[in-house]
Amino acid sequence: MKGKILVTGGTGYIGSHTVVELQNAGYEVVIIDNLSNSNIEVLDGIEKITGVRPIFVKADCTDINALTKLFEENPGINGIINFAASKAVGESVQKPLLYYRNNLVTLINLLELMPKYGTKGIVFSSSCTVYGEPDKNPVDENAPIKKATSPYGNTKQISEEIITDYIHSGAPIKSVILRYFNPVGAHPSAEIGELPNGVPQNLIPYLTQTAIGIRKELSVFGNDYNTPDGSCIRDFINVVDLAKAHVTALERMLEDKSEETLEIFNLGTGVGLSVLELINSFERATGVKVPHKIVGRRSGDIEKVWADPAKANNVLGWKATTSIDDTMRSAWNWQLKLRERGIM
Ligand code: UD1
Repeated sequence: MKGKILVTGGTGYIGSHTVVELQNAGYEVVIIDNLSNSNIEVLDGIEKITGVRPIFVKADCTDINALTKLFEENPGINGIINFAASKAVGESVQKPLLYYRNNLVTLINLLELMPKYGTKGIVFSSSCTVYGEPDKNPVDENAPIKKATSPYGNTKQISEEIITDYIHSGAPIKSVILRYFNPVGAHPSAEIGELPNGVPQNLIPYLTQTAIGIRKELSVFGNDYNTPDGSCIRDFINVVDLAKAHVTALERMLEDKSEETLEIFNLGTGVGLSVLELINSFERATGVKVPHKIVGRRSGDIEKVWADPAKANNVLGWKATTSIDDTMRSAWNWQLKLRERGIM
């Protein structure tokens, strides 16, 4: 066993894929999740893929007593990967305090408990949303941080500052902040994937639900942007590639392969793809048509953003390798699996 890792939000979309890669790499995993946006059956999927069922604690990370109990009952937690957070941009505008409480109190609780229990490092899930509408693309880690356009985005910025200030104060911990671009797709086994609650707000779940007939038509939000085909451009990164980056970053931090106590990495492919190009890729890869129509812009959307992943490529020795067509196939196979199981 390489060490014991606490994965908060470990039954969620990116969390579950990361648990699989951690277990494959020989780590023992303890998951804490309140199941507010995920399902207990995810543990079956993880067990089917890896042969190991992670330890699971159903609790809320904002509850310091529950977290303390977890650390007492699972001694020797070496590292934490913190996924537990609310992430819907629109909802965060409606319920800002929920977002500030969930996302910030969770982080503060974890940081407070780490030194008490000898936990060495924390990997934090951040987002390219911290760059806002970037002045130029691709975006590297030194690009300016822009004023957040939603409470959700603000929680990511404030969280990065909380971690930075705590480490600068001399706290005996290390951290890696990972700024994700747009994670998409599912595990190739189709045993785990993204399970959106209600009507999806994000592009890929809406697209796959349209392709299977749950939604009538996908709305493409705007074709009058300053991009080659007029639709927005994003850096769509395969979720398994993304999960693997967490294992590499964690290892670097815990095994002191870096002198730094705090490092920041962009996680993207380095390639920008438009919304219309993504729909084409899905249709080409799966042979399934996606009924879609152009509608007006969605308020708050960024026109174009894609990563310069050179730092992660060179320093971590990690690279996103899965093709967009393979990623689209994995998303489709996951949607088919949900239908087969009668979930949707
Ligand atoms: C948003 C957040 C990001 C967050 C991510 C996950 C911002 C600026 N971005 O990313 O921080 O991590 O959600 O929740 O806060 N689109 C359509 N039709 C749809 C859905 C989406 O055309 O039905 C388009 C959008 O206009 C956008 C692209 O697809 O251009 C991607 O949208 P989405 O999947 O929601 O992700 P982001 O907005 O990039």
